[in-house]
Order: sequence, then C-alpha cells, then structure tokens
Amino acid sequence: MITQSIRFVERVSKMSTCAVAINDLVKAYSTGLKAIDGVTLTVNEGEIFGLIGPNGAGKTTTLRILGTLLKPTSGTVSILGHDVVEGQMAVRGLISYLPEDAGAYENLSGREYLAFMAGFYEGDAKKTVDIGVRIADLKERIDSRIKEYSKGMKRRLLIARALMTAPKLAILDEPTAGLDVMHALYVRERVKGLIKERGTTAVLSSHNLLEVEFMCDRVALIDHGRIHETGTPSELKEKYGAKNLEEVFMEVVKHAA
Ligand SMILES: Nc1ncnc2c1ncn2[C@@H]1O[C@H](COP(=O)(O)OP(=O)(O)OP(=O)(O)O)[C@@H](O)[C@H]1O
Ligand SMILES: [Mg+2]
Repeated sequence: MITQSIRFVERVSKMSTCAVAINDLVKAYSTGLKAIDGVTLTVNEGEIFGLIGPNGAGKTTTLRILGTLLKPTSGTVSILGHDVVEGQMAVRGLISYLPEDAGAYENLSGREYLAFMAGFYEGDAKKTVDIGVRIADLKERIDSRIKEYSKGMKRRLLIARALMTAPKLAILDEPTAGLDVMHALYVRERVKGLIKERGTTAVLSSHNLLEVEFMCDRVALIDHGRIHETGTPSELKEKYGAKNLEEVFMEVVKHAA
C-alpha cells in the first residue's frame, strides 16, 4: 500500500514537470484543410523545444493553439496543467506569445507600446518596461512612432514585449526571422538566459537550423500536420548519420513527402 502510494506520488510529480502536453491534436481550417493531423507531444518544464518543418507544415497553427488564439478541432492541449480551451484565461496569465507576423499599434512609440502591454501584467510595470526597452535595444528610436520603424525594429519590439515579463512559457514563432546578426545572437542568448535564470520553458519555431541546434534541448520535425521525428539534436543526428540538423531535416522531409 505504502509502496503504491509512493509510486503514485512519483507519477504525479513527474506529470507536474510537463509544461506542455499535446494529445492527438487536430486542427481543420474552414477550408477543410487539416493543418494539424493528430499531433501528440510533450514539452518538459525548463526545456527549449524547437518545432521545425517546411513552409505550411503546421508550426504556426500549433503555436497559435498553444497561445489560445485558435481552438483545436479535436484533441487536447494543456499548459502547466491548464487546458487551453477550458482554462484559457489561466493559460494567458502564464504565457507570452510572439506571433509570426504582427502589427503593433502603429501610432504609439515603442516605449508607449511596451508600457501599454506591461499594464496587463502583475508586478512593477516600470521595471518591466525598463527590461523591455533594454531587450528591444532601439536606443533613442524607442521613442519614435512604430509606423516609422523598419521590419527588424518592429520585430525587436515584439520580442521585447514577449520576453520582458518572464513568462512561465514563452511561445516564439520564428523569433529571429528578419533580425540582423547581432540582434539574432542577442535574442538567442536572452531566451537561453530566461530559461536558466527564471525557470521559463520555451517552444519556438525556426527555419534557421543552426540556431535550433544551438538553442533547443529537444526538437520535433513536423510536416503535413504530423510529427515525423522527436529527439535531442544529437539523437537525431546520430539516427540519420547526419552532420547537422539540416541534413536530418532533408532526410525526414524526403521520406515524409
Ligand atoms: N487561416 C487559415 N485558413 C486556412 N488555411 C490556413 C490558415 N492558416 C494556415 N492555413 C494552412 O494551414 C497549413 C499550415 O500552415 P501554418 O501557418 O501552420 O504553417 P507553418 O509550418 O507555420 O509554415 P511557415 O514555415 O511557412 O510559417 C498550410 O497549408 C496553410 O495554408
Ligand atoms: Mg509559420
């Protein structure tokens, strides 16, 4: 009896280290297209998890469901124990979401935008904005209107917004796309730092497989809405006798087609 109870406690404590649990997820758009076609995967707390796959594979759709912006057609997704549909509000308090492509209140300045967003979170808003301003690193242009920003400058502002609040789960859709080399490096280090220092978990998508290899503890390869491989970058390289993740990607996609 006692042994059984200990086993039960061990099982429960293992379950609680799971940050994201996706179970048999299906998403069909109104066009009838099944963008996600039976995805099951888990992301552990404290992990940086990378979703990789060709254009149209279903990465953004998956991340938008994690971000509670889209509802699953069937299957379940839970984030730190909260269902993304039933517990939508609880989930929103735990996550931050960097969209693939987003406008950001073009008539505000970068600083005003960060202050507006910081207002939705508990804690010291001024401190949060200061952190955001530092992450965006736009110098004096933080006080220019967003409509005067370049593409990369807008992206840096949105990244600052996603990372300034130290979320429990950061959902980052192509975080470094469109950034210059220096800021891409900075964002990678920053995400890694958040994970180590604040116990954040991150799920990201990227087409830069060197970046994925550098950042991610584990990776899932998705194509046509299905997961074709999951593992650490080294496990996958070993399995496919590949030098890098790009070679793994090519092999998996060739056989998935
Ligand atoms: N709003 C929508 N309505 C209908 N179909 C959609 C919609 N959004 C995405 N799709 C389709 O769902 C599939 C998956 O798209 P998704 O954006 O998730 O791919 P992705 O893996 O993020 O691709 P990319 O690497 O190009 O960003 C694609 O076939 C796409 O055309
Ligand atoms: Mg996408």
